[in-house]
Amino acid sequence: MKLWSGRFGKDTDALVNAFNASIGFDQRLYQEDITGSIAHARMLAARNIISRQDAEKIETGLLEILKDIKAGKIEFSEDQEDIHMNIESILTNRIGDAGKRLHTARSRNDQVALDFRMYVRNKINKIIPRILNLEKILCGQAEKYQETVMPGYTHLQRAQPVSFAQYILAYAYMFTRDVTRLEDCKQRLNECPLGSGALAGTTYDIDRWMTARELNFDRPMGNSMDGVSDRDYAMELLSDLAIFMAHLSRFAEEIILWCSWEFKFIELDDAYATGSSIMPQKKNPDIAELVRGKTGRVYGDLMSLLTVMKGIPLAYNKDMQEDKEPVFDALDTVEICLPVFAEMLKTMKAYPENMRRAAGRGFINATDCADYLTKKSMPFRDAYKITGELVAYCVKNNKTLEELSLKELKSYSDLFEQDIYDALKLENCMALRKSYGGPCIEETSRQIWEIREFIASREA
Ligand code: ARG
Repeated sequence: MKLWSGRFGKDTDALVNAFNASIGFDQRLYQEDITGSIAHARMLAARNIISRQDAEKIETGLLEILKDIKAGKIEFSEDQEDIHMNIESILTNRIGDAGKRLHTARSRNDQVALDFRMYVRNKINKIIPRILNLEKILCGQAEKYQETVMPGYTHLQRAQPVSFAQYILAYAYMFTRDVTRLEDCKQRLNECPLGSGALAGTTYDIDRWMTARELNFDRPMGNSMDGVSDRDYAMELLSDLAIFMAHLSRFAEEIILWCSWEFKFIELDDAYATGSSIMPQKKNPDIAELVRGKTGRVYGDLMSLLTVMKGIPLAYNKDMQEDKEPVFDALDTVEICLPVFAEMLKTMKAYPENMRRAAGRGFINATDCADYLTKKSMPFRDAYKITGELVAYCVKNNKTLEELSLKELKSYSDLFEQDIYDALKLENCMALRKSYGGPCIEETSRQIWEIREFIASREA
């Protein structure tokens, strides 16, 4: 029988029951629901709204239910619609009248708002260490390849020399920002909606500060209507996860390119690659491709929730039951992508010789050539033009800049001397890029240090 059978003259249609129910997915909130209910019962007793004995029965009963759920002993019922009503009805079946008192001064609206908020907070706490672990792996890889010269690209055209370490560390900085974004989200969501009631608070003399404190929130939410209908934190989480996936996906794309025979900058470990059912020679970067593909799901989850929320008047509306699945899906996706991507990077092998060979073609020291002339007092724009002409000459004669004779160079500018060959050497081009944030070894060492400091500050 339905909770609300008093008001109704008929049973709910079976189709409506199935359509309305959220127990199929919101049972994930059972832990938060029980934690929230215990805090609520304790507060009700502290304010003499229910008796101490009833509060104790409720608490013991809920903890029993928690144990039974974890042991797989509980079967939820669609007739009880959602996790909140399922747990309340199991509790009442077990402990009688005390169970019926639990929902005093509370509504499912503030209850679900509380549960979902705590669920998101718990998940952020789980995801952050995994991103930090990924960063740790990147620092370890970067440390090995600080002297490995490779071409840096713009427009996917070889541009200027960098090191493989510099390349990897660029991603480590993105992931550092992803962590701080999630921390921001966690900090902003940390206000407690419990006690907002259905939407208009309650006439009972409740203590919202007590429940907020007990549930580790900074304070109760300031407005009861906002309290029950705010889903900013879920939209913010999905935005943060979407940005994180964008970073992962860009990195995945690099991995896919680097594994190709056209690049062959890296090789994935056999345990982190897959073969083909027909082509015996194939070794495919399926993991990176799936990560790139799954990014689309997370973007979809974000769009889905933004769209659900955009036209809802205050306060609670049933549309908001649609907030959970996109959040669960995005969290599941991120949680499955993170460890497999991290291990794939940890076990990948680089081919520094191939990177160096690629760096040798494509005139990535042309800027250095122009800078050489500029440092010998030629205005940069003139030096840039002369170097462009030199590159055209090289392309026509199938040579690199460093293969030109001093005589050939001098025919373009008198300023060229023997030391131009040092200036054009790729190792020097990279080592001399000492500006803050640059690819020289001192700077990549500083970057590794900075990221490790960040990780340590979060692990402390
Ligand atoms: N299952 C509901 C949800 O997820 C819980 C809140 C129901 N509140 C209500 N007034 N029908 O949103």
